Amino acid sequence: MSSEQLSRSEALHETHESEARTFTVRVEPLGRTFNAPESLTVLEAAGFANLHLPRMCRNGTCRTCLCKMTSGRVRYTIEWPGVSIEEKAEGYILPCVAVAQSDLVIDVPDAADLPPTRR
Ligand code: FES
Repeated sequence: MSSEQLSRSEALHETHESEARTFTVRVEPLGRTFNAPESLTVLEAAGFANLHLPRMCRNGTCRTCLCKMTSGRVRYTIEWPGVSIEEKAEGYILPCVAVAQSDLVIDVPDAADLPPTRR
């Protein structure tokens, strides 16, 4: 393989890696699922799927959205989300500042379907 072909291959690989991945989030006990791309927080992705999750500040401080993640992995959009080390170890997350890094299952008893929006 020539050096030109190699650099083209590397460029294609980088392009592929920079594409946002999308994961599936299941909300229990509602049993509802929605897609959560890496470009959105879990809370934002739920909103686009017409699913209401409890929220107030949307910046990771009030803890209104705190819920238990029973499966999966997230990263945070802020450095110090309002979740203690113990809570993190137990699986609690703040969906307003959490981005899915795998398929997730979250337990949100107050989640509710929103009526479909009219266009
Ligand atoms: S809505 Fe306030 S911490 Fe998530």
